Amino acid sequence: MTQPKFLIIAIDGGAAAGKSSTSRGLSERFHLMHVDTGSFYRATTLKLLEAGIAPTTDYALVAGLQSLQLDTAISGNNASITINGWVPDESIRSQKVNDNVSHYAALPELRAFLLDYQRSQVQVARDNGFNGLVMEGRDIGSVIFPDANLRLFLHADPEKRAMRRAKEGITDSIEKRDRIDSTRKAAPLQYPDGAIFLDTSELSLEEVIENVSKIVEPLRFA
Ligand code: DC
Repeated sequence: MTQPKFLIIAIDGGAAAGKSSTSRGLSERFHLMHVDTGSFYRATTLKLLEAGIAPTTDYALVAGLQSLQLDTAISGNNASITINGWVPDESIRSQKVNDNVSHYAALPELRAFLLDYQRSQVQVARDNGFNGLVMEGRDIGSVIFPDANLRLFLHADPEKRAMRRAKEGITDSIEKRDRIDSTRKAAPLQYPDGAIFLDTSELSLEEVIENVSKIVEPLRFA
């Protein structure tokens, strides 16, 4: 049987737009490595907060970033960042991180620091026998993988997004984060030209995965 083509799928969108559930569903269906880059920004934010480094461009930030050794730990289909051997846990989803992450993610130094690491996940996926990778974030289709085989932009109405977070038992300032993420100078959250726009407001998770799978399927042996 012909080997399926190695696929790079980029999924962008605002907070709670359905990126994680969709990415996870696709990763299972097509045996893709799932990479949640939001967790990279959350984990580095937590480490910088712990080190008392403020979200401003200065020597302390550069030195703080240099002290972070990044690697990857695979668990099932999920690729997690590790920082100096630490595997991020639920602490990266705390209120404190929710409140601060957008300010750190707006720093060009932090984005540059994570750029090559994010791109290097392609090789990790190949080395671990995956059929490709599905990477979710805010700038994956615009900056990290503008040539991805598929670039999706997920949207959901603010009320639906708030409901999804409430169901997960998470208090999150979704709209405030989206405002900061969309208006920053470095790699803002935006709909990249030529990406596929999908409004998930009225769709169940199964319907979203089904719709996207119909787009992915023909790409596999193209
Ligand atoms: O996806 P998330 O809500 O866990 O992401 C946390 C924050 O990280 C989000 O507010 C914006 C930032 N982020 C980013 O700037 N670029 C990415 N590729 C992923 C996340």
